[in-house]
Amino acid sequence: MFSDISRDDVFLIETPRLWLRWPHARDADAIARACAEPSLALWTARIPHPYPEGEAEAFVARARAANFAGEGLTLVVTTKGDRRDLVGCVSVERDADGQAELGYWVARPFRGRGYASEAARRAISAAFRLTAAVTLVAKAHPDNVASRATLEGLGFVEFGPTTCVAPARGGAVEAVDHRLSRADWRESAAYDVAAPAARV
Ligand SMILES: CC(C)(COP(=O)(O)OP(=O)(O)OC[C@H]1O[C@@H](n2cnc3c(N)ncnc32)[C@H](O)[C@@H]1OP(=O)(O)O)[C@@H](O)C(=O)NCCC(=O)NCCS
Repeated sequence: MFSDISRDDVFLIETPRLWLRWPHARDADAIARACAEPSLALWTARIPHPYPEGEAEAFVARARAANFAGEGLTLVVTTKGDRRDLVGCVSVERDADGQAELGYWVARPFRGRGYASEAARRAISAAFRLTAAVTLVAKAHPDNVASRATLEGLGFVEFGPTTCVAPARGGAVEAVDHRLSRADWRESAAYDVAAPAARV
């Protein structure tokens, strides 16, 4: 799915306030802390609740393997200061229908600062610049107002009700289908003409 440029763990995307980089084993504790928070699991399809011991390490290993194979791109998001706090995660992976799908979460203490929008904007750029995807899909639960607002701000258009394969929620759950075409992306607020090149 992804070209060679993102298939090495020196791949890095810089935004005004954030770094987006491959997950490392040392991120596991911060990922586990964030994912243990109930609202994060509630609105996502694959984050189990309660969050099991060792799941964060397994997540990091799966993400790194998929990044390396070019099957997807999962990046952790950190602040840029000295602390480099782990803020969240963004991903572009194939969904059950083979379409490129955007996913993201932001740890509760970091919400409401525009971080999801800032990180997702660059993940969208990576999806359209580094893959042949014609359309990017994203699914959000109908009651997930924060995620639906995020997607709307990024230029996604609602395509109506659908279901989402959600293994961690016990099966398919209802969702609203959102899509952003490559053509619409070029006209959207998410299009960053002067985006700094991904650094390798
Ligand atoms: C959805 C989520 C990623 C948003 O993260 P965030 O960093 O707080 O989002 P941003 O600050 O970039 O805000 C994006 C938009 O959503 C709006 N928004 C954020 N939280 C909101 C809330 N609780 N209610 C209503 N709108 C909200 C913001 O106002 C902003 O809209 P605007 O650009 O029109 O002002 C975060 O709440 C989260 O991780 N939730 C749990 C996991 C999840 O839902 N993941 C997505 C699965 S589809």
